[in-house]
Amino acid sequence: MLNKTEKTVNLAFIGLGQRGPYLVAMVLDTMPDVNVTAICDVYQDRLDSASEMIFGKRGVRPYVTTDYTELLTRSDVDCLIISSSWHTHIPICIEAMNAGKPVASEVGGAYDIEQCWELVRTHERTRVPIMLLENCCYGREEMTVLNMVKQGIFGELVHAEGGYQHDLRDEVSLGHEIRHYRLDEYMHRNGEIYPTHELGPIAKWLDINKGNRMLCLTSMASKARGLNDWIKNHRGNEFENADFHFTQGDVVTTMIKCARGETIVLTHDTTLPRPYSRGGRLQGTRGIWSEDKHGVNIEGRTISHSWAHDWEDLSVYYDEFEPELWKKYRENGVVAGHDGIDYLVFRALIESLVDDHPVPIDVYDMASWMAVTALSEQSIAMGSMPVPIPDFTCGKWVRRSSRPTWKYDL
Ligand SMILES: NC(=O)c1ccc[n+]([C@@H]2O[C@H](COP(=O)([O-])OP(=O)(O)OC[C@H]3O[C@@H](n4cnc5c(N)ncnc54)[C@H](O)[C@@H]3O)[C@@H](O)[C@H]2O)c1
Repeated sequence: MLNKTEKTVNLAFIGLGQRGPYLVAMVLDTMPDVNVTAICDVYQDRLDSASEMIFGKRGVRPYVTTDYTELLTRSDVDCLIISSSWHTHIPICIEAMNAGKPVASEVGGAYDIEQCWELVRTHERTRVPIMLLENCCYGREEMTVLNMVKQGIFGELVHAEGGYQHDLRDEVSLGHEIRHYRLDEYMHRNGEIYPTHELGPIAKWLDINKGNRMLCLTSMASKARGLNDWIKNHRGNEFENADFHFTQGDVVTTMIKCARGETIVLTHDTTLPRPYSRGGRLQGTRGIWSEDKHGVNIEGRTISHSWAHDWEDLSVYYDEFEPELWKKYRENGVVAGHDGIDYLVFRALIESLVDDHPVPIDVYDMASWMAVTALSEQSIAMGSMPVPIPDFTCGKWVRRSSRPTWKYDL
């Protein structure tokens, strides 16, 4: 899609709240082959400070606008990066592809199944590159487990779990003060509203959309008490929303059934006190991996001393199963945040564009993972009724290969 003679990629960022400026700084600090030529936000002060930061780092001011549609036709923009609030992701992706502009989006969930279909059909019609920037797929631990899966170390896979388990009570409760989008979501929705950090790696382990697919799900939400309690304790009874009836349950559990018979459990848990964890777990006929134990137990390999069996630290397996991508990356010195996963997912995008290589997290991944949000809302609204998960590949999953051919493939 890019002119092959070009060695640099010009990005435009839409959304400059917490995440956007951090990503802009990361690419400018670590990627000499990437420029940020344009930025967009609806808030002028956020534009001004991001523009100043870019000028400070590269000595060039980006094009600045409050209207993202201006970026769709600019010749100095090779790819749009969407780091705005969740409800804007799919509509902007669709507009970008229709305008012929490659696009990559930060993570979130869909609001409606029809918009997921439109996303897929727009890509199939235009063939414009689109990628979901699910950084957790590039975690050292997640990629090592993926490699172990591909080599059959866990035997035949049977069950996987994961969660977005992150105490966000201050960020959500103070949403209007800090101009953050999450508050409105928690006031009006009830579902698995942020599934992809854990579902992304799980989907890659289970070959979802490439030999397997998600068939149906059911979700259940607990009561919502955490935000009211936090607001009253930290801001007082008179503070905004102290007695508001939040719809988003404190803990939302979603169970998914796959075509090959595996089950997946997702947990959304962001409004009660807790340490951060994505709570990963993978089980097959020959072994188990647990993120919270940072360990595995592999039949025939792990030496167990007790009746209950022991956990073996995953690091024991790094020599043999850590992917080359991560080995090289560590040798060169891990850069950027979230233990380097933000850097790797961006390199996957940039090198896909430059080499004209299929992106490793494609439109079918994006549609099916994001659809879980809209479907879980439907399920909860109907008393945890099972709901079918559409096959966005329209049958192509049966023949698509999950064999990696490129260093960024998952
Ligand atoms: N991958 C990760 O690890 C990770 C971490 C944090 C956030 N995120 C994702 O990044 C995104 C942004 O999160 P955040 O915490 O920065 O949110 P935020 O609310 O702080 O920032 C979002 C920004 O988008 C802007 N915006 C909204 N609609 C717009 C429009 N139509 N045009 C231009 N700008 C618009 C808002 O004005 C705001 O400045 C979310 O999708 C979030 O899930 C991902």
